[in-house]
Amino acid sequence: MNYLILLLSFGIANAGIDREDDPELVKRVYNNYCSSCHTKENKIVKIDKEKEDSEMIITIRSGTGGMPTYSWLFTDDDLKKLIEYMRINSEK
Ligand code: HEC
Repeated sequence: MNYLILLLSFGIANAGIDREDDPELVKRVYNNYCSSCHTKENKIVKIDKEKEDSEMIITIRSGTGGMPTYSWLFTDDDLKKLIEYMRINSEK
């Protein structure tokens, strides 16, 4: 359960990415909460780009196959921004 340590060390209060429309903020949240599992050799792995955002949000919220459940931490808008970030970066 090392994701809990991750959350605690970065502070739950900093998780919201809705406050400012700042792409660097999305990147920072992504690096804090998601990159430990979703980054490999500068590429974001494990994302099926055929899927709709809404399906991915359900997966993130329910937590599956080792995904922590993030339902209490992010709004749908936050998650959409994070998914968009993953989509863009998985092109590389
Ligand atoms: C502890 C490791 C871990 C962390 C941290 C993590 N993920 Fe995941 N994630 C996974 C695994 C494993 C899968 C594959 C699940 C599956 O295929 O069943 C996955 C799948 C996904 C998917 C694909 C969902 C789908 O329907 O195909 C998305 C999108 C996603 N994660 C987003 C995120 C976001 C955003 C964060 C940060 C808020 C995050 N993940 C943090 C392990 C993690």
